[in-house]
Parts: sequence; structure tokens; C-alpha cells
Amino acid sequence: MPCRAGDPSGAPDARGPHHHSHRRLQRRHLLRDYSADIYCEGETITRIERAIDPRGVAPGTEVIDAGGKYVFPGFIDPHVHIYLPFMGTFAADDYESASKAALAGGTTTLIEMICPGPQDEPLAAFELWKSKAERLAAVDYTFHMSVVRFEEAVQGQFREIVGAGVASFKVFLAYKGALNLSDGDLFAAMKLAKDLGVVVTAHCENADAIDALQRALLLAGQTGPEWHGPSRPPTLEADGVHHLCTFAELLGTHVYIVHTSCDAAVREALAARYRGVNVWVESVIPHFVLDETYAERPEFEGAKYVMSPPLRGAANQAVLWNGVKSREISTIATDHAPFRFKDQKQMGTDAFTKIPNGIPSVQERVDLVHTYGVCAGRFGLQTMVDACSTQAARLFGLYPKKGTIQVGSDADLVVYDPAFRGTFSLKDSHSKVDYNAYEGWERRGRASIVTVRGQVQVRDGKFVGTIGRGQFLRREPTHF
Ligand code: URP
Ligand code: ZN
Ligand code: ZN
Repeated sequence: MPCRAGDPSGAPDARGPHHHSHRRLQRRHLLRDYSADIYCEGETITRIERAIDPRGVAPGTEVIDAGGKYVFPGFIDPHVHIYLPFMGTFAADDYESASKAALAGGTTTLIEMICPGPQDEPLAAFELWKSKAERLAAVDYTFHMSVVRFEEAVQGQFREIVGAGVASFKVFLAYKGALNLSDGDLFAAMKLAKDLGVVVTAHCENADAIDALQRALLLAGQTGPEWHGPSRPPTLEADGVHHLCTFAELLGTHVYIVHTSCDAAVREALAARYRGVNVWVESVIPHFVLDETYAERPEFEGAKYVMSPPLRGAANQAVLWNGVKSREISTIATDHAPFRFKDQKQMGTDAFTKIPNGIPSVQERVDLVHTYGVCAGRFGLQTMVDACSTQAARLFGLYPKKGTIQVGSDADLVVYDPAFRGTFSLKDSHSKVDYNAYEGWERRGRASIVTVRGQVQVRDGKFVGTIGRGQFLRREPTHF
């Protein structure tokens, strides 16, 4: 049986929305592998039993035979950018393309960052971002609300946004002059988050030091994409994590470090956790499988691989994989931030500081984790599901509606074929970018059938869903 390395329970044939056979039941952490029939009525899972008698189900019920496949809860990507005005341009996707990409990769829920500019009104930004999703989403979605300004006049707006169901903030310690907050505003925003029970997600890199390093590099004529990494070394990310965690320690605010890329930053987060800080770590798939040499590729191709924090030395990858295995890294997200190579990445031909940051990965994430995590023997399927679905649901107030297969949960299911063999390629991509960062790489496994609230959205890996069916997920604060 393929792809069982690291998963000694060997239960590759959990059965899908309806059908037979029992193997064995195994507990690991709180998760289990087992074979069963899953019955969905309307949008909800209503029965999970060893064998449901087909004579007892409603006429017209579709039976999906998941024999030989896995059935996973719909995957959740807790860090994506879809509508994103950034670095002088706009990210290339909309909710239609991003939903199709997500679903083709088994992801049924997206959490998008609302990233307004420092002049924008927060409430207007929230409405704008919601309007971008409303008619085009085929996945369910919610948002993290970025706090890029926090003077007294706008503070009430953040309370209103939380009241409207957005129970997480985003702060940037990076992007000087564009998105980063002063320490005074950061402290005050984190205080409000604590009062409201809202978790603060944070991009941790020291903005001022990066600015100084960038200026020095450009002055020395070091303008190519290969200099993006040296302008933002691991120590500045670790410094950002330390800084955020210091405020969290003083205030009791719960914090979630996004796209943690390197050993030094992971260590800072864990050191804070051992001091008692409520801190969780996210890492994103590009940092697990791509290293800094990609950004050094000639002919400006390195620009495809410019993201922040930058791709790191290869030694960091084992730290991330092992951090997931030990569950010290809670989630594997993408930081999907799509910019075309031919015209958008090219904005930085004369200075790496003008290359729009981001590596689109929303379609590839789960298959990359399966291929290079599970099949490579780094960890088992339960860990993959926990890191790619369950933990995001738990941390961001979506559990047990999302992130699990339970009676009463939304019928977001992925029938996953571990025997599928192929390659990652632009020709299969739904994202509106003109390159695939993983072009030609080996791919083991794919989402064969994907349902969102009981409706099939992907069949045989192809999108068959309904644009606009995605729902905004209201979330209550849980981080008190
Ligand atoms: O390179 C990245 N990460 N682009 C998107 C913006 C951000 O920092 O998350
Ligand atoms: Zn970021
Ligand atoms: Zn991001």
C-alpha cells in the first residue's frame, strides 16, 4: 500500500460519503483512523457507522465509493491573500480562481488577510474584502483583520468588526511605512485583543533593520532577487518574534506567529511558550520545500521565489518538518500571494525591494505535504490532517463545524487518492499566475472528490462546483 511511511496504523481505506468495510480502530492523540460509512444530509454529517444499510437512506442519495482512498475533513488554509493591494500592484487572483485552486487541492475553507492601507478606514476595508468574496467564493471563508493603524478614532471600528464575526487580528512588524505598526499602537492593539478575546496573528520581522539593510544593499549595487534574503536574515525574524512575545507576555494576549521560516524564529516562539506565553506557530509550505537557492536563480527567475520572510538555508527545513511532527508548529498554511512573473514580479528588475512578495501555493499545499511529508516518512496522516485542517479550526473558532469528521460537523470532506501519481504543473493550476513554483515536481496523491457542506465541488480532481456558494463564517472570540 503506498504512502504509509510514518503511519503504522495503515488504514488507507477509510470509506467515504457512504460505504462498507471495517478495519481497526486506533487512537493517536485525539485522532483516529477507522473505516466507516459517512452519511450526509443537507450540509451536515448526520451518521458515521461501520456499515449503513443503503435501504435505510433517502431515495436519490448519492453514494460515493471511497474504497482504497482516505477520507479527510476539508482542509483549511489559515493564511491566504486573494484581494491584496500590495507593493504598487494587486495580487492576481480573485475568489473564483482562488476557490477553484483551493478546492482542487482539497482545501474547503480559506482564511484571508484583510490588508488595508494606513489611510483606509478599517470598517470600509472589512466591507470591501467581504464584497470581493461574496459573489465569487466556492469555498467557505473568513478573515483575519489587519490592524495597520490604531489611533483612538478607529478603535471602535475594530470592536465592531470583531462583533461582526472576525475573531482574529493581524499585525505586521515588517513593511516599514506601508503596513507596520508603531510599538505604541502595537501594544494598544494587543491590549484590545486581550480584552476582546481575539488572537493576534503576526508577521514578525524587524521593519527598521530590514529597511536599513535594504538601503545598504541597493547602494552597493546589490539589486537582484538573490539579495532579498540577505536583507531579511533569520535573526531579524527571531527578533520580531521575541518582540511580539514580550508584549504578549506583559498583556496576556494570545498570539499566532505566521509564516515562521527558520530555526531561530521557531526557537524564540518556543522559548516564549516555555515562559508561559500563549503563542502558536504557523509555517507555510514554501519554507518546507524550497530553499534560498531558488531566489538565486539566474535571468531574474529568482523573483518567482521572493517572499517574506525569505526562503532560508536548507537546514531550516528539517526544523520545520520536525516542528510539525512534534506538534510544536501547529499549522501548515500557504501565505498564497499570487503575482505574475511576466509583468508583476518584473516591477523589481532594477531593485529587489520592488518585487511583489509572494509564492502562490494554495492548490499545491496538501499534495506537497502528503508527498514530501507523509510519503517521505516525516510524519503520519493524523499529523498532516491536524496541521492542515484541525488546528486551524480549533485556533480560529471554527471547530467542530470545520476541521473534523463528526456527526454535526459541516459535510466538508476530501476523498483523497494516495495512489495518484503525477507532477505539479502550471497547466493544471487555477491560480491566475503564469508560473508554478513547483513545476515538474513529483506529486503523490490528489483530492479525487471534495465536498463543501454536502455538495460535490471537485470530481476526479476537476472543479464541478458552484461559484458564489461559499459562505462567510462568523467566528466568536475564544482567546480569553
Ligand atoms: O511574501 C509574502 N509573504 N507576501 C504576502 C504578504 C505577507 O507578508 O504575508
Ligand atoms: Zn507576512
Ligand atoms: Zn501573508
